Amino acid sequence: MRHSVRDLATAGVRALHPYQPGKPLSELEREYGIRDAIKLASNENPLGPSPLGIEAARRALADLALYPDSHGFELKNALSAALGVRADQLVLGNGSNEVLQLVTRAFLSPGDEAVVAQHAFAIFTTEAVSAGGTVVSVPARDWGADLPAMREAVGERTRLVFVANPNNPTGTWHRAAHLHAFLGSLPAHVVVVLDEAYCEYVSEPDYPDGLAWLAEFPNLLVSRTFSKIYGLAGLRLGYGVASADMADLLNRLREPFTVNSLALVAGEAALADHEHVRRSRDFNLQGLAALGAACQQLGLDYIPSVGNFIAVDVGRLAGPVYEALLRRGIIVRPLAPYGMPRHLRITIGTPAQMERLLSALPQALAG
Ligand SMILES: Cc1ncc(COP(=O)(O)O)c(C=O)c1O
Repeated sequence: MRHSVRDLATAGVRALHPYQPGKPLSELEREYGIRDAIKLASNENPLGPSPLGIEAARRALADLALYPDSHGFELKNALSAALGVRADQLVLGNGSNEVLQLVTRAFLSPGDEAVVAQHAFAIFTTEAVSAGGTVVSVPARDWGADLPAMREAVGERTRLVFVANPNNPTGTWHRAAHLHAFLGSLPAHVVVVLDEAYCEYVSEPDYPDGLAWLAEFPNLLVSRTFSKIYGLAGLRLGYGVASADMADLLNRLREPFTVNSLALVAGEAALADHEHVRRSRDFNLQGLAALGAACQQLGLDYIPSVGNFIAVDVGRLAGPVYEALLRRGIIVRPLAPYGMPRHLRITIGTPAQMERLLSALPQALAG
């Protein structure tokens, strides 16, 4: 009997929906014959990478014949000093995506449950499903994760709970006391992933630093990335911080050399470039305010965001508006795959990029 190769795949892989990344600039330019397209679709840093990071990567080019330091000794030491954690609490990843994958593979067996919020970052579901887990998606409240309802959804089979603070694509966030109470309420058989990919952008006084809770919650993993404020998305570098026991488990599972040598040195240099981080944060705060004000002027609802993006309700199905912007050389992110068919997620760009978006948006909305 002949089997289709699809039947041979694991149930988890068969159940997967492919991740839909933001459209690359080169693809849009090729498809539409456009030049000078702009991308406000993947929450990248419009100021680019830290110049110190670029310089460090450039210097490392001559050594590309050598394998990278698989343990990332220098970068871990730098992170350890910067974050006030021990180096043995760290796990490096090819983007924080790899860290999310490692923690899922380590703790979720087929048939186990992972609890996520409706509209949460899609990779949580992708990882859980590919590991053969069952995803329990809990309806959002005001677009954000409803933590008490998520606690209710935790059962005997739950092994993982994912919370992004702030969340992508909604930009919603949790205050310290609320999140702390949630963590404290969870049973001991559950591992919590607290995804802080955008934490460096947040300047709200009541925004918690998940690292401060690691000693109290040995089942907590905090994930962070160099792809956002550090501007190194192209190099793929992220990290997780947890108890030494959890970090050890994830480091055992991790394949050697997934973090390349340019990422190791550029990440270390970018981490020390406080000026670039500060500029990026200030720039983003201004951009958030300007985009929010422009939406109000256009009469568009949006979800207040503390990330480097805003999910805007265009008042009708967003697909045609997305297409109309593409034809004008502007890539944003339609949120139908997140169950938000009227929203477009717009990344904060440079003032020139935002001006271009805002002058194209009224025509795009008018069809
Ligand atoms: C909430 C969240 N977590 C994690 C990531 C993964 O980023 P990376 O793998 O580039 O570190 C992203 C990227 O968009 C994100 O939005």
